Amino acid sequence: MSTQTMKEGTTSSATITCDGTSVTLPVVRGSEGETGIVIEQLRAKTGMITLDPGFGNSGACRSAITFIDGEKGILRYRGYPIEELAEKSSFLEVSWLLLFGELPTRAQLDGFTAEITRHTLLHENLRRFFDALPTDAHPMPVCAAAVAALATFYQDPETDQTQHDAVIRLLAKMPTLAAYSYKHSTGQPFIYPKNRLDYSSNFLNMMFATPAEDYAVDPVLARAVELLLILHADHEQNCSTSTVRVVGSSRANLFASVSAGISALWGPLHGGANQQVIEMLEHIEAEGGDAQKFVDRAKDKKDNSRLMGFGHRVYKNYDPRAAILKKSCNEVLAKLGIRSRKLEIAMQLEGIALKDDYFISHKLYPNVDFYSGIIYQALGVPVNMFTVMFAIGRMPGWIAQWLEMRKDPETRIARPRQIYTGATNRAYLPIEKRG
Ligand code: CMC
Repeated sequence: MSTQTMKEGTTSSATITCDGTSVTLPVVRGSEGETGIVIEQLRAKTGMITLDPGFGNSGACRSAITFIDGEKGILRYRGYPIEELAEKSSFLEVSWLLLFGELPTRAQLDGFTAEITRHTLLHENLRRFFDALPTDAHPMPVCAAAVAALATFYQDPETDQTQHDAVIRLLAKMPTLAAYSYKHSTGQPFIYPKNRLDYSSNFLNMMFATPAEDYAVDPVLARAVELLLILHADHEQNCSTSTVRVVGSSRANLFASVSAGISALWGPLHGGANQQVIEMLEHIEAEGGDAQKFVDRAKDKKDNSRLMGFGHRVYKNYDPRAAILKKSCNEVLAKLGIRSRKLEIAMQLEGIALKDDYFISHKLYPNVDFYSGIIYQALGVPVNMFTVMFAIGRMPGWIAQWLEMRKDPETRIARPRQIYTGATNRAYLPIEKRG
């Protein structure tokens, strides 16, 4: 097969030739210069499909939400660099930006904050839903189940208003669900949300207050949570976001779609990696702290170990979120007066890996999960809640992508094709004649 683009420089179409059949297909160019061959007509015109396991070369949609340049280590939400948003914004401000495309005015942000604050409570029946689950349940499937269960409480037919209400409810209730899933695992009573607290402080309070003891929210911790949520807020067409879009493309409602996204995020190659990183660091610490030995294992193809928190499908350079988190890790730990052996090991691992031929040639750099767990631990967040923190942060991104998908006239139900490799037509054998 040969592919050539016409009109070099100003690519407008591409010709694909296979077995003597040629087809000319349009080429689209995004606002940052990314180009894609539109293959919608490929099968109709040639009978052929494309095969792209893991979708590494397939664009599934046009999107105006998040831009990543993985070669240069650039991440922008709606055009704004992540570094600036991380430094200057609040999580709800970033949520508004992702959902509506612009930074909010003061009045818009105040109105949005008030609306979110009003919807943080869970229906009491939903609160009792947690009792049905085992106390040692991992909080990720608990959250996925609870978010799916929200669909049973809000069943009105989809209109602009009910869609808006669902957006607000999901953003508002996710920290409550997350904190409840933690309280459930500890056997402690649930702590209701408090309207006087901001988004992150409210979450910390629901996590760490008890009926016996108030919890004074440390502003350093609340700001660290805000930062973590902002850095996780969106990341274009990753595994969980694609899941949300795929499920939503069948016109499943927002709660059902996001619940599926939470399940996708749980996997150790995706959001579950932050838990794996801490477990890896604990393992290295327990074995005497030999970072070099672990790097050698991660390179050994006969050993299943990977350097967790390293590598990324899109970033072939330092993940900008990891750079921000590394700095924040040092600052937060210094402010809290914590000396972390795990941070020391993480920095050793990074130092060794970044000079190692294997990691250099494979373009493997720290990703967002490499340093986030160390901050979560400093905040007192238990290890099995790390990925739930990621899910709270990713909520506005999932919702923005779902809304964009729903409004996009190009959206069709997601339904990939396959290259069939199984048996060809064969005669049915009666059971007595088999083997
Ligand atoms: N340690 C050692 N080798 C690695 C690693 C790693 N962390 N990541 C990739 N490689 C190697 C891999 O063995 C393969 O080598 P070769 O070509 O010689 O066979 C090559 O690099 C390409 O790997 P891949 O698995 O084909 O790459 P991918 O784009 O499919 O996977 C990834 C991306 C993130 C799943 C992978 O890098 C990985 O497993 N990293 C560790 C898990 C992790 O940190 N995940 C969090 C990702 S960031 C948060 C998020 O968005 O979810």
